[in-house]
Amino acid sequence: MLLGTQRVNDAGHLEIGGCDTVELAKTFGTPLYVVDEALVRENCRKYTEVFGKRYKGDVRISYASKAFLVQAIAAVVNEEGLDIDVASGGELYTALSVGFPPENILYHGNYKSDEEIELGIAKGVGRFVVDNPHELRRLSRIATGHGIVQPILIRVTPGIDPHTHRRIRTGQEDSKFGINVSDGSALEAIKEALTLPGIDLRGIHCHVGSQLLDTQSHTDAIDVMVEFLATVKSETGKSLPELDLGGGLGVRYLEHHEPPSYEAFAETLCAALDAAFEKYGIETPALLLEPGRSLVAEAGTTLYTVGQAKKVNIVEEPGTRTYVAVDGGMSDNPRPQLYDAVYRCLVANRADQPRDQIVTVAGKHCETDILIWNTPTGVIGEGDVLAVQTTGAYNHAMASNYNRFRRPAVVFVQNGHADVVYERETLDDLLRQDRMPARLQSS
Ligand code: LLP
Repeated sequence: MLLGTQRVNDAGHLEIGGCDTVELAKTFGTPLYVVDEALVRENCRKYTEVFGKRYKGDVRISYASKAFLVQAIAAVVNEEGLDIDVASGGELYTALSVGFPPENILYHGNYKSDEEIELGIAKGVGRFVVDNPHELRRLSRIATGHGIVQPILIRVTPGIDPHTHRRIRTGQEDSKFGINVSDGSALEAIKEALTLPGIDLRGIHCHVGSQLLDTQSHTDAIDVMVEFLATVKSETGKSLPELDLGGGLGVRYLEHHEPPSYEAFAETLCAALDAAFEKYGIETPALLLEPGRSLVAEAGTTLYTVGQAKKVNIVEEPGTRTYVAVDGGMSDNPRPQLYDAVYRCLVANRADQPRDQIVTVAGKHCETDILIWNTPTGVIGEGDVLAVQTTGAYNHAMASNYNRFRRPAVVFVQNGHADVVYERETLDDLLRQDRMPARLQSS
């Protein structure tokens, strides 16, 4: 499973973006997040192209920056002509810091503070995605105070329960996100939005879940959402011009994961949309999508240095387990702990060897932070460079300083060049926020 520009070079080393990963590990240290810039760019282009070609109305693709946000990725996404979805004041601040056009920013979140709303409004954010009636009223008050009319979408819950890990399901009714369609609350909120000052209601939004390997949840949501647009029209006389279907397309973590291609995803969604518009008598609205994982996950690889391999006897077959310790773990990738996430890896300095040995890759935290259980690698031991694939989404973004680990560096690789886009944290960075009260200093 070689992804994007990954290949095995003449030295038998894994190469990404024309850079030898063994050299990258030497130059920049490990753990190291390596991002295949060409693949990110290709994904942005393809995603935009397939929907642009197939959908009958306007299409806007927003990169869901929660998946991975540093200044450089915001700049790449902007260069590729995508909008950006931010879900906090911090993400907003980061996007603005690289000159992301505010009108191309979509601002999400189930609880935006007044300060965050103020910042978004003052900077001229393109769309607020309003989560609940309380936020709607606060937004109206703040926008009116600034003398502006803020374009918004309202986030609704379509009542779809997607088949994905319970912690990344959001479309079901029992959710902290959005306003329910089925009990009439979403319609009430829309009626209120249409009367409130400072608010320009442009459309509705939903996001059903993440890492979805088929399109069923999306097509189910489309039927509910388009029927709801028809209800809004008949109840209020207003045709909402925008429909946002969120993100959710899954990626390959293992060989047998087969998410739909972008083409198939676009074809299925657009066909379902066409059918629903026809069924409910709705004019084609602009389509908004917010992919995160599917644009960046496969472009990311984490390099670790292997410490020791330790064989222990176990009761189950085959009687032994080999724990291979690496110099990172749950601080750079908490996903196995949180979501039972699975990964594939290879020994970067012997990428051409047969994968005939099964090992368990363990992090170095004071926890059983297993990164990958029972994975085939071939010969592996101290000093080897282990490359864990598909770590571009929700890894750096969810990294922590647990056990006072330093967050790894991130490098973008392309055409044989590597650029650091996030410096490895230093030991002094770990102390930067510490303050010693005078009464403790003598101790
Ligand atoms: N739009 C909204 C409103 C979202 O909540 C999300 C993800 C996205 C778009 C992007 O979804 P994607 O295309 O990436 O599936 N930390 C978890 C994933 C949480 C997803 C949260 N929302 C993980 O590591 O699996």
